[in-house]
Amino acid sequence: MEKREQLYEGKAKKVFATDDPNLVIVSYKDDATAFDGQKRGTILGKGAVNNRMSNFLMKQLEKEGIPTHYVEELNDRETVVKKVSIVPLEVIVRNISAGHFASRYGVEEGIVFDEPVVEFSYKNDDLHDPLLNDDHAVALKLSTREEIARIKAYALKVNEVLKKILLASNVTLVDFKLEFGKTADGTLVLADEISPDTCRFWDSRTGEKLDKDRFRRDLGNVEDAYMEMQRRLLGE
Ligand code: TMP
Repeated sequence: MEKREQLYEGKAKKVFATDDPNLVIVSYKDDATAFDGQKRGTILGKGAVNNRMSNFLMKQLEKEGIPTHYVEELNDRETVVKKVSIVPLEVIVRNISAGHFASRYGVEEGIVFDEPVVEFSYKNDDLHDPLLNDDHAVALKLSTREEIARIKAYALKVNEVLKKILLASNVTLVDFKLEFGKTADGTLVLADEISPDTCRFWDSRTGEKLDKDRFRRDLGNVEDAYMEMQRRLLGE
């Protein structure tokens, strides 16, 4: 599959057209940003880790009945995916308090919830991705009621599948963010990526952070954390 013109460049990925109008190629960058792009840096090797880890996890999710955008990995950084229009919702699932949940509600990190918490934000950097509920999303015509129900059911299923895969590698899935898209024929599929950029991973035995929080919070050993996650999940 040949790369044609660049369609889009985001903070962590570029998207290229292909000869097939229904397929695009994503190319993962080493660029890292946090806090709506205010903090910028490079995490060497991140693009390759995120590409390969995301593809590995999407393939597992497909086997468990979750439709995804994944088509074919081309090389370390590039993957063919279905072309979708992204539903402008960031779908966050939380198992343990951390990050904005802890700061917003004034609680410590590490509280294990009895049930997973599903949360939506409006994907809009200018507005700083404001938190919203189902009614807000429907009122703003970001999605339909039926679609939101399906997104929520998929997100909870993704949580169950990922928790199990990760725990086998002694990684606790604290929280994560998903994005969904619609293909040309209107099918809802899981899109974007599942990686240390978009999830919080804690070592199950030591509690050590193995994700982008090391970059956000200047904790050091950022590259090591990405490599460690790759080693645990992909065995190399
Ligand atoms: P939060 O606690 O900052 O809201 O983050 C929840 C999860 O979502 C966490 O695993 C990191 C991920 N996330 C993204 O993927 N992109 C973002 O822009 C933000 C703010 C969080």
